[in-house]
Amino acid sequence: MIIKTIQWANNAVKIIDQTRLPAEFRHVYIRDLKCLWHAIKTLQVRGAPALGAAAGLGVYLGIKDCKARNFAGFSRQLDGVIRYLGSSRPTARNLFWGLERMASVAAINRGKSVSQIKKILFAEAMEIIEEDRRACRKLGGYGSALIKNGDTVLTVCNAGILATIDYGTALGVLYRAQEKRKRFKVFACETRPLLQGARLTTWELKQKGIDVTLICDNMAATLMRQGKIDKVIAGADRIAANGDTANKIGTYSLAVLARYHGIPFYIAAPASTFDARMKSGEDIVIEQRPAAEVTRGFFKKPIAPANVAVYNPAFDVTDHALISAIITDRGIIRPPYRQQIKKALKPL
Ligand code: MRU
Repeated sequence: MIIKTIQWANNAVKIIDQTRLPAEFRHVYIRDLKCLWHAIKTLQVRGAPALGAAAGLGVYLGIKDCKARNFAGFSRQLDGVIRYLGSSRPTARNLFWGLERMASVAAINRGKSVSQIKKILFAEAMEIIEEDRRACRKLGGYGSALIKNGDTVLTVCNAGILATIDYGTALGVLYRAQEKRKRFKVFACETRPLLQGARLTTWELKQKGIDVTLICDNMAATLMRQGKIDKVIAGADRIAANGDTANKIGTYSLAVLARYHGIPFYIAAPASTFDARMKSGEDIVIEQRPAAEVTRGFFKKPIAPANVAVYNPAFDVTDHALISAIITDRGIIRPPYRQQIKKALKPL
């Protein structure tokens, strides 16, 4: 099966509706900005790099019918679109990276006609998509060198094809290792409360014929103690200048567990996930999500009293000191992170 997470088709943003997986594989065509905002908010499209693509395509969707005759009018609409999309989810750097990139391309071309700028923005959105495809392939290539025959890898959430344009980050490493004919197994944490690991990662890995076993999040420590895990690989939503990494809630606990058990813990992410403006993880805004996701779970059946107090952060920050290496499209970055990240991410 060909999995195309997000693309432009029939004059619309075409996505796989990830809230329906694994029960149903269904595409949705998004023709207006509000629907795209909603698709991002409700995780129909999700995962940091896929949100970078959604930013590019979303900006084009929001301005393609703009009637402004001059740059000032066009720019007002563009700013509104960018602010609106940016209000959907705060944590993934790629969303803002994509929006900022679209804004700066428009600004550079301010001397051109509105219809020319629209075409340029469309081309830029396509370029974001192609760049992510290339970045994930490269990253997968570097990371696959870390996978040894016979390894068992633990992962969390979904950092695969469904979270990117193609191939994935943490799972891209595994796909490349598979292409190199390495033998390995995967344990996938179910990833409460929205079950991206159970619903998406196991589905995706099975499509690719990779040996995957699903576990509940609270089983990871036992597996590590039993010597069943050789390495942990997770994706990232935002990486600060010092290497502190925001990723799906639960990632930090896996990193702590991995350190205790002497297991290497890797983060895999493209350059577009790094945010040099964040000095450390403390600067990263963590999205808080509705209580009902915890009290009713993904399948919306009561599993706790509806009125119980709930704390539901969607992401956590893993301290850079717990990360063995960060696998990127610019190579594998190792400590000391502040210097090495700066060096690896120098403009090409
Ligand atoms: O809430 P989600 O499903 O968007 O969270 C996604 C993650 O935490 C991923 O691990 C991260 O975005 C990296 S995707 C390559």
